[in-house]
Amino acid sequence: MCGIVGYIGNDSAKNVIINGLRGLEYRGYDSAGIALGSRGRILVRKESGALENLEKKITKSEFDGKIGIGHTRWATHGSPTRENAHPHLSADGKIAVVHNGIIENYDELKPWLIENHHIEYRSETDTETIAHLIGVYYQGDLESAVKKAVLRMRGTYAFAAIAADEPNKIVAVRKDAPLIAGIGENCNYLASDIPALLKYTRDIYLIENDEMVILTKDEIKIYDADGTRVKREIMRVTWDADAAEKGGYEHFMMKEMCEQPDAIRKTLLPRIDNKGRIKLDGIKFEKDDLDVLDHIYIVACGTAYHAGLQGKSLFEKYVKIPTEVDLASEFRYRKPLVDNRTLFICISQSGETQDTLAALREAKKQGARILSICNAMGSSIARESDDVLYTWAGPEIAVASTKAYTTQLICLHLISMYMGRVRGTLPKVEFERIIEELKTLPEKAEETLKTENVMRELAEKFFIKEQIFYIGRGTDVGTAYEGSLKLKEISYINSFAIAAGELKHGTIALIRKQTLFFALATQDFLYEKMHSNIEEIKARNAHTVGITKDGNKRLAKICDEVVYIPKCSDEVASILAVIPLQLLAYHIAKLRKRDIDKPRNLAKSVTVE
Ligand code: AGP
Repeated sequence: MCGIVGYIGNDSAKNVIINGLRGLEYRGYDSAGIALGSRGRILVRKESGALENLEKKITKSEFDGKIGIGHTRWATHGSPTRENAHPHLSADGKIAVVHNGIIENYDELKPWLIENHHIEYRSETDTETIAHLIGVYYQGDLESAVKKAVLRMRGTYAFAAIAADEPNKIVAVRKDAPLIAGIGENCNYLASDIPALLKYTRDIYLIENDEMVILTKDEIKIYDADGTRVKREIMRVTWDADAAEKGGYEHFMMKEMCEQPDAIRKTLLPRIDNKGRIKLDGIKFEKDDLDVLDHIYIVACGTAYHAGLQGKSLFEKYVKIPTEVDLASEFRYRKPLVDNRTLFICISQSGETQDTLAALREAKKQGARILSICNAMGSSIARESDDVLYTWAGPEIAVASTKAYTTQLICLHLISMYMGRVRGTLPKVEFERIIEELKTLPEKAEETLKTENVMRELAEKFFIKEQIFYIGRGTDVGTAYEGSLKLKEISYINSFAIAAGELKHGTIALIRKQTLFFALATQDFLYEKMHSNIEEIKARNAHTVGITKDGNKRLAKICDEVVYIPKCSDEVASILAVIPLQLLAYHIAKLRKRDIDKPRNLAKSVTVE
């Protein structure tokens, strides 16, 4: 999704901004641009496509400004052309603006600007409206023009503005889109996200909703919506800078898949104390807090939703409270029955997914307690939740989510098991058995990654297929959905996942000779049922690849190929079983020469509805 960077100081703003934008590439973009304040003017360059295209345009020495703003755009209003790329300028070219979000009432403001101020639009974007509004109100004081413009705007935004006549400040405002300010020495920075600034500073301010931030080279001032100066704590970022880079792997996705054992370890082990009890970093639910609940909702999008599907089984099994899983984009529009007897759990890697955030706000309004599982510290979802359990997976850069997913599953186990014990619905012996199982997962995930050779060979065999099916039962259904999504999003092969028992109610009609099925059979208690479903598809001459636990000899007799994950209990099998499917998707995408880390039409964090 769009990214913003700003710099003011003594150095060349051009270099800092380009490096910052590079740090935000993982958000996804289709054009980029930069505006520099230089010798009383604003110089703007923008290009569609990769950042390199932009860089080629700004090598000349005229780009010597010490103040500037930059942007990577992921098209929403208007196609991904150079004209629509940010920054956008006011009519006289003296104000430049970059913006992340959507101005919902731009179609009211635009005619007003055209009729009353004879503005000629140069792009199809909603953002250009911000630049014109500020331009219309500007009388030598950027701060007050921005304030007046904001009063006219509705929607979601984090935007930054500079003025040619005030080359000593950047003014930015946040409403429902991420924004941070970075503290430097004789300079200051602005960005949508931490990776943009890691090269320059680790001391940042998180800007809250409806706040305005004014950056000069010596100072960062934050004001709330009433114009009162806000004192904000500095947040020190402890991320390893290397974590934001590929570390020798060909793709971020492969790096992140290989990081799963460690990510699982970091997410899990610090939360189990030396007596084998679960401690959830400050999250505390007493028995009374849980007994009052009559409903749990788990709400998320995409991969995080698939994690939620697994969560449903866990909460119902351990906590014995009816649990519903919903897509965030649906939840908010179907008038869900939420009140103060509801626990609302949202799952989001980025913590910025607009639909999930909106669903959270809806549930909060109706009185639910909000618990979120997030990977991004200080993200909007994390900040707006009553309780947060972080997946300590480190930054996930590839658009295809891998380590975030497996660590989300770990968090769901931890929370549900903790609650099960507090509520007394999960017997101690059972709890201890599963804790021991969970503790073996980092090593078993390591072991499971060794299926890579097998998965590469399968990819070589099947990468030309135009359709692949995934089936399973119980928690294997969620894994099937996730495997199918991974394949679709990075290889662009049409794939379909379905609960195996549901096949014969329609989808079985699609099976022809050699139709390819990945059949997950990791649930021992459902094995007989799954075996019968595989027999059904074999009888129709499908080609089947089974995925099961080490030691299952029966599956090899009916499947054409079998992939084994380490022996483990049914409860934790889904955390391992997804790994071969991630590897399969990766190798098929590679053989199809896809842009694995940045698949077409997709963005890492979806901050629009
Ligand atoms: C999956 O690989 C995708 N990246 C996508 O489905 C993602 O899980 C979804 O957009 C939700 O994102 P979030 O976890 O950041 O909220």
